Amino acid sequence: MVPNDNDTRPSRSRLAAAVPPLVIWLGFTLFLRFMPPDGREHGNLGQFIGRFHLLLLHLPLVLIALVPAFDLMGRRPHWAYFRQAAGPVLSFAAFLTFVTALDGWLLAWSGGYRGHDVTNHMWAGAMLTGVCAAASIARCGALPKRSYPVLIAAALGLVAWTGHTGGSIAHGDDFLTEKLPPRMRSWLGMPAQPPKTASTTAPAPKAVHAGPGSADPGNPAFYAVHVAPLLARSCVSCHKPEKHKGGLLMDTYEHLMHGGEDGPVVLPGNAKSSEMLRRVRLPASDDDSMPSDGDKPLAPEEIQMIERWITAGAKSG
Ligand code: HEC
Repeated sequence: MVPNDNDTRPSRSRLAAAVPPLVIWLGFTLFLRFMPPDGREHGNLGQFIGRFHLLLLHLPLVLIALVPAFDLMGRRPHWAYFRQAAGPVLSFAAFLTFVTALDGWLLAWSGGYRGHDVTNHMWAGAMLTGVCAAASIARCGALPKRSYPVLIAAALGLVAWTGHTGGSIAHGDDFLTEKLPPRMRSWLGMPAQPPKTASTTAPAPKAVHAGPGSADPGNPAFYAVHVAPLLARSCVSCHKPEKHKGGLLMDTYEHLMHGGEDGPVVLPGNAKSSEMLRRVRLPASDDDSMPSDGDKPLAPEEIQMIERWITAGAKSG
């Protein structure tokens, strides 16, 4: 299956062989376009199967990397068999990329994922499935011979990009660069310290007691005594490191203030413009309402309490 000399089929039927993958790929992208993950959870079975995405993805990744390696090794006459193996490996990789992408969609759709990182990752994956299929078709001789190395290079680039955007969903945007030595950060024109490090290195919060003055929303103890337990009860189940819906973590004060994928959700002193407050005030029927998925809405006193805390500066001590 090299850009192939022993394939005796006429080029017309080779071209015809390219049609079904093309149709499948177009169907897949249209499907993604009209059924994007919408940030709502859709059932546990989908999530169960979807989570295998994280395991599956390693298979096409390794197989795609093997293809150019096999091609190069196969250049030596007594290793020609590597080159012969590269074709089937590529076809299998293209197939697995497709299965992995479908499973990724299932994970995102059923698990309530949404946002830029998710969308970027989804389209990167969709392009990767297309490019792998095209490379595989080119290798069978149905596309101009010269397109093959270009497509393989594109596939490798897309593997890196898809992996990076996927990593951003799982670990946050700055996962790769978070531990970059300060000098290199400054060479690259990045801020001296990523915002997140502050929270990971922050000392564990001291135990707080509802002492005198803690009912005053301007008192730094107010957060720990009143706000944190409420968030722990109603929000953290979906906004914790293992889930971080909307890119937002609410398990610590620092995480909460860091905000979600659309930026800060608490603006100290400005309750009106704080996304967190807007969300909890929406009627449960609204798509953006929090807590989502029919969880018990916050009581009016609880919403007021959050509002007073934000208005008083959203402090924590
Ligand atoms: C059942 C799961 C679930 C619970 C419980 C939940 N959320 Fe969410 N939250 C989500 C999902 C899913 C998203 C992302 C989709 C969206 O933006 O609507 C999200 C997004 C958000 C965002 C937007 C983040 C951003 O930057 O886009 C805010 C703010 C938010 N939630 C606040 C809360 C608050 C406050 C609570 C508790 C009162 C809460 N959530 C409880 C699932 C949940």
